[in-house]
Amino acid sequence: MGSFVLHGNIIDSESPERLRVAADSYLVCEEGRCTGVFSALPERFSGLPLTDFGDRLILPGMTDLHLHAPQFAFRGLGMDLELLDWLNARTFPEEAKYADLSYAALAYGQFVDCLRRSATTRAVVFGTVHPAATTLLMELLEASGLVSYVGKVNMDRDCPEALREADAAASLAATEQWLASARFAHTKPILTPRFVPSTTEKLMTGLGRLCETYDLPVQSHLSENRNEVAWVKELHPDLPSYTAVYDTFGLLRPEKTIMAHAIYLSDEEKRLLRDKGVYLAHCAQSNANLTSGIMPLRRNLENGLTCTIASDVAAGHTPAMNKQIALTIEISKLYSLKHDREKALTIGEGLYLATKGPGRFYGQTGSFEKGYAFDALVIHMDDIEGLERTPFEKLQQFIYDGDDRNIIARYVDGVSR
Ligand code: GUN
Ligand code: FE
Repeated sequence: MGSFVLHGNIIDSESPERLRVAADSYLVCEEGRCTGVFSALPERFSGLPLTDFGDRLILPGMTDLHLHAPQFAFRGLGMDLELLDWLNARTFPEEAKYADLSYAALAYGQFVDCLRRSATTRAVVFGTVHPAATTLLMELLEASGLVSYVGKVNMDRDCPEALREADAAASLAATEQWLASARFAHTKPILTPRFVPSTTEKLMTGLGRLCETYDLPVQSHLSENRNEVAWVKELHPDLPSYTAVYDTFGLLRPEKTIMAHAIYLSDEEKRLLRDKGVYLAHCAQSNANLTSGIMPLRRNLENGLTCTIASDVAAGHTPAMNKQIALTIEISKLYSLKHDREKALTIGEGLYLATKGPGRFYGQTGSFEKGYAFDALVIHMDDIEGLERTPFEKLQQFIYDGDDRNIIARYVDGVSR
């Protein structure tokens, strides 16, 4: 973890409204943390090694708060289905394969290789119910240099025999065993009840206790699809809402919980989610692919909910966070056509929702302010020699059509990766 200086066109989102463009500037890293952005390099940093990236862009690394590692292998398949059929036809048969560690090594190897070449420097990832395969995934992520949380999935009902844990006690015991083996520096465990329909009350009660005992964060799915929401109502007729089910079992840990999708919510649910500081992973591409619906993103942001842009691979067909930003903006434009008062998302807001917004889950990450973890991407968008474009124009082109080939350097916690 070094101290050094990068020179280039530096862009970050300090807030949703404030995109900062520092052309021809210097970004200082000291001991893995950002010191700041300077238009001229202060004398006191003149002894640090300097890498000059010229006209290239320097952006914060992106944080994806919701994706499924074992689904990467079938991304783009089965998109003619809605959630519950897609789970049965595509997801569960694929996830069952991770009982076999040699298959897991192959498929997780490809997943991690793809992720580490992408714009994502931090991620929160679902594994499968299998403890050994999930620990293997963590080993691979640790070796990649990315920073992540990984969850062994809990499921003790309403899924195929091959994936169903024998009962709540067996699921909890497997989880504790996995927690004991899952000790890494940059790859941390997160409790992962798949969603309400696949977890019994007994299991949710146990997981609620476990996350308190071990002080663990929690991730799950919430109100993604109308048939799913109706199913949860049937399963828990005495509780007021889907959100209330998680809350009842102690699974909405303040500032430490990620709920993916969160499309169909009452005002009461939104109040609860806001008061608990739950991160709502907005998965626009996934929601389009599985015909799930559209989250009222603008209204949620205005109401103080913490929303972030996430890929939800494989219901989202790519982990590329730059493309997820573009798609989220596009969907927000279509949504604004039908909802007069809900303006579409801007580029600056999109960048914020993929960097500093979700980065807070890791503490101070996702921007170049003083004290923030030094996660940075160097972007080369100068494909035609001599073509004049401003740094902001290059940013737009990277978001809409950039790929791994445009990312020429990457730093995580101040280390080049
Ligand atoms: N709800 C429960 N499991 C899943 C999953 O794997 N993907 C998505 N998109 N939604 C879910
Ligand atoms: Fe998901």
